[in-house]
Amino acid sequence: MNIMLFGAPGAGKGTQAKFIEEKYGIPQVSTGDILRKAVADGTPMGLEAKHYMREGKLVPDGIIIGIIRDRLSEEDCRKGFILDGFPRTEPQARALDQLLGEMGKKIDVVISLNVPDSTIVDRVTGRRVCTSCGASFHTEYAPSKKEGICDLCGGELFTRKDDNEETVTKRLVEYHSQTAPLFDYYKKEKLMEELDGTQGMTEVTRKIFEILEQKNKEKS
Ligand code: AP5
Ligand code: MG
Repeated sequence: MNIMLFGAPGAGKGTQAKFIEEKYGIPQVSTGDILRKAVADGTPMGLEAKHYMREGKLVPDGIIIGIIRDRLSEEDCRKGFILDGFPRTEPQARALDQLLGEMGKKIDVVISLNVPDSTIVDRVTGRRVCTSCGASFHTEYAPSKKEGICDLCGGELFTRKDDNEETVTKRLVEYHSQTAPLFDYYKKEKLMEELDGTQGMTEVTRKIFEILEQKNKEKS
């Protein structure tokens, strides 16, 4: 299954991608995680991307499309993948179509996690992320058992540099102007499944699994 998770910053894409990854054994492909690693490693791509990310701006399409081209060609994506945070602009969506066409693949389903802006700031400012496995926690809604330590791998939790109110507001502006219009594109392609992302995490996961089981049945 080739799955795309769609939604605003803080909608729960990363959280749900981890659950899907665990259940179906297909990898999460998060452009945000790949960029953060490049920034931490100080690679040339990381150095270029860093300023955009700190400012809550989108990183230029050329960089992102290159990342996806490389990542989707890796062996572990052969049986499927979960796109998290890509595509985010029209040129990225077009590049994805072209790339998948070249690879003889297609997207099976786009799951949109619908969460209003009023909920987003709270979610993002309370988020804590594992330095080691990338799992997301929340000080209030999903606290780790031991403060500052990841439940899954024991790694240290940190607060992302862009998870402050000012930057989140800018990320939301980028989302509404550049990414939200893609919703109609995938709806027209009849790939879009919408979920109320304000429900509890377990409920959202349950509904995602229901959609995926249905899609699996349709495929076989
Ligand atoms: P990226 O890392 O992709 O950030 P984002 O899209 O802003 O999304 P987030 O990771 O903030 O949110 P999420 O939906 O994964 O939420 P999560 O599950 O963690 O991108 C970062 C930056 O990189 C961008 O700003 C841009 O600069 C650049 N970039 C990346 N991709 C790019 C691209 N394609 N093109 C150009 N630039 C790109 O959940 C959030 C919090 O809420 C957590 O604390 C979680 O515990 C909690 N939570 C989750 N679900 C629930 C629930 N149901 N109820 C209560 N709390 C919940
Ligand atoms: Mg994320």
